[in-house]
Amino acid sequence: MKKVVVAAVVVGAAAACGGAAYVVRRRMEKSRKWGKAMGIVKELDEKCATPLGKLRQVADAMAVEMHAGLASEGGSKLKMLISFVDNLPSGDEEGLFYALDLGGTNFRVLRVKLGGTDRGVVQQEFEEVSIPPELMVATSEELFDYIAEALAKFVSTESEGLHPEPNKQRELGFTFSFPVRQTSISSGTLIRWTKGFDIKDAVGKDVVGKLISALERNGVDMRVTALVNDTVGTLAGGRYYNNDVIAAVILGTGTNAAYVERATAIPKWHGPLPKSGEMVINMEWGNFRSSHLPLTEYDVALDEESLNPGEQIYEKMISGLYLGEIVRRVLCKLAEEACFFGDTVPSKLKTSFILSTPHMSAMHHDTSPDLKVVASKLKDVFGISNTSLRARKVIVDICDIIASRGACLSAAGILGILKKLARDTLKQGENQKSVIALDGGLFEHYTKFRDCMEDTLKELLGDEVSETIVIEHSNDGSGIGAALLAASHSQYLAEE
Ligand code: BGC
Repeated sequence: MKKVVVAAVVVGAAAACGGAAYVVRRRMEKSRKWGKAMGIVKELDEKCATPLGKLRQVADAMAVEMHAGLASEGGSKLKMLISFVDNLPSGDEEGLFYALDLGGTNFRVLRVKLGGTDRGVVQQEFEEVSIPPELMVATSEELFDYIAEALAKFVSTESEGLHPEPNKQRELGFTFSFPVRQTSISSGTLIRWTKGFDIKDAVGKDVVGKLISALERNGVDMRVTALVNDTVGTLAGGRYYNNDVIAAVILGTGTNAAYVERATAIPKWHGPLPKSGEMVINMEWGNFRSSHLPLTEYDVALDEESLNPGEQIYEKMISGLYLGEIVRRVLCKLAEEACFFGDTVPSKLKTSFILSTPHMSAMHHDTSPDLKVVASKLKDVFGISNTSLRARKVIVDICDIIASRGACLSAAGILGILKKLARDTLKQGENQKSVIALDGGLFEHYTKFRDCMEDTLKELLGDEVSETIVIEHSNDGSGIGAALLAASHSQYLAEE
């Protein structure tokens, strides 16, 4: 009897020992995986680092490329496109004008009544329409017909006081936010699509011609008097309200900048010298590339798998279309190599672009003690539940690393423009203000991104110079800007 009891005790002890060993092994395994995960995040953090010295190198490289792009066609990755806008709005613009703003996941149609000297925008109406994703990769006819149809409907809703004058054709400013080689203020050919658009038959074609044919097919009688990039529209809209605006930057689905250049500083411009002596340049800075850019394996893979590999590298590190996707790629690696979300990799984590930048921003701004926004995004977007608080904290850190890198790089880009214009230092006795009009959803809605961009620019410039540089949010300025440019290039101006 006694023997049996002893044996049972021995067996029980052995089992307990085995169980304890199992628990210890599990713990060790867990801690090994956690260590591996932390290694991945640490490496990401190191590779994404943007110390001020590096940002200055990026700014210098940007300024050098600007010179090269202005010198000759194809002289740089920066296209430095001539906009044919050599006169920014003066405030005297008057009359009823339409604008069409196409460039992201939505397009907008606007109707604006300009009051003339000192009266500003008297009345405006607009409508926003989202673009079905299939149209972003359809034929140009399908895309432009969809837009023309919406414009036709919008025209039919002109309210009291918002009709064109009798016997006058409606005039439109067309904001087309893609790289276009302009042949005049109201014509140009598309160089390539960006931001997820991929409509093969439109590349190299006359953009305004495509729109006009669609307008005709849809019974809209309208003349396109200005074709502008959104940066150029934003610059024009910004200048209408503030004379010190010298550049505009878009931080949205894509990113880009435009600024006012001395015409004599554009060797590739062979046209007549504008009366103003100035010309607005659409930099197409999204295509900037430099060995100083802190690229990671995630950026390289994202680029390789994108619709436009090898292009828009700076844009892919900064803008709204891509930030969430970079974070997703990091999370995917954590899941695959460090079992960050358990023993199997959640399948949705492998879906490209499933994590949008607004999702990322919501997680990044989560201030709840238990990070419940992060938990709910993980659940809603990836179907992942039961994450630990420390894992959720790591995810917030990853969002911070990726957003801060983008924000710092955009600050460096702005410094590059200021350098090119010699406005990054104070000249004796001068206290000239330089205002930069900023717009785009990323800038507007991603607070931590915007704050980081503004703080970094201040740091780069130093206290004294910072006093003279103003970042101004130009809310939807590109639409109004296009209407203003349509007005200053109206077919009826010469008659007056
Ligand atoms: C386009 C630019 C545009 C920018 C912001 C980029 O992808 O190439 O033309 O200004 O996005 O919308």
